[in-house]
Amino acid sequence: MALTFTPLHPVIAAACSGVDIGQPLTPEQAATIDAGMDKYAVLVFRQGTPLTTPQQTAFTLNFGEQEPPYTQIQAAGGVRIADPGISDISNLAADGGILARDDRKRLSGLGNQMWHSDSSYKKIPARYSLLCAHVLPPEGGDTQFADMRAAYDMLDARMKARIEDLVCEHSRIFSKGALGIPFTEAELKAFAPVRQRLVRTHRVTGRKSLYLSSHAGRILGMPVAEAQILLRELTEHATQREFVYSHKWRVGDLVMWDNRTTMHRARPYEDAVYPRELRRTTVTDGVPTVEQQLAA
Ligand code: OGA
Ligand code: MN
Repeated sequence: MALTFTPLHPVIAAACSGVDIGQPLTPEQAATIDAGMDKYAVLVFRQGTPLTTPQQTAFTLNFGEQEPPYTQIQAAGGVRIADPGISDISNLAADGGILARDDRKRLSGLGNQMWHSDSSYKKIPARYSLLCAHVLPPEGGDTQFADMRAAYDMLDARMKARIEDLVCEHSRIFSKGALGIPFTEAELKAFAPVRQRLVRTHRVTGRKSLYLSSHAGRILGMPVAEAQILLRELTEHATQREFVYSHKWRVGDLVMWDNRTTMHRARPYEDAVYPRELRRTTVTDGVPTVEQQLAA
């Protein structure tokens, strides 16, 4: 069974077939998938049946270490999935019912509908995220991915020169705060802004990409208003249709994306009526972006 990639869009995303990701991979298979990530930035594995948590964790560990635990905005009724390695991407409460309209986990989850890169608010951000679909609503709830390499390439020379060495500050205070979600004192402390380069260079391919996210709120050495306008302009540019792949989920799909070179967002669905349950594992990138400037 040969491992093959079938492009799903002109610049980003491919379907990967010819591998059973529920079974241990050979080192060659893992290396081929990693090379596929470097090329396509988003890979879709259509399996029909969701991976179990041990299967998803084992598959994830082929590509690096999982992220260490971080302060989560919790549901009023407590956590639904105890495994700290699994992010519960759902609208469900610990008792299995749909979260109340004003539940903080629901409100925080709405933030996934803003374009972002996972964990850009951490000093050492995420490399890959792997999201597996368990329960889906009848309509809506697609996930979109924007190619930040193609977006960078299409900037004009003047803009490329202007942003080359800029450093942004990222925090959940900027993203969730913009939605009006109030924070506790402990959260404000835990969510202190971290620095990230605005232009990243891929360690393997040498390609440059924009490192944008809803979590980015300031740019060092720039008045906040000017930074906000620049970040909005770049985000608008980077999320044009020609750079975006929309994934229509089927139960059992596992989608893996590179947070260094893409942004993503959830699309709305009737979350007061239908359950939607996906489970995410995340691989850390291992190094801060601000010390990466001479890489490649
Ligand atoms: C995520 C995320 C989007 C979605 O899991 O990191 O942003 O469509 N998910 O659920
Ligand atoms: Mn996300």
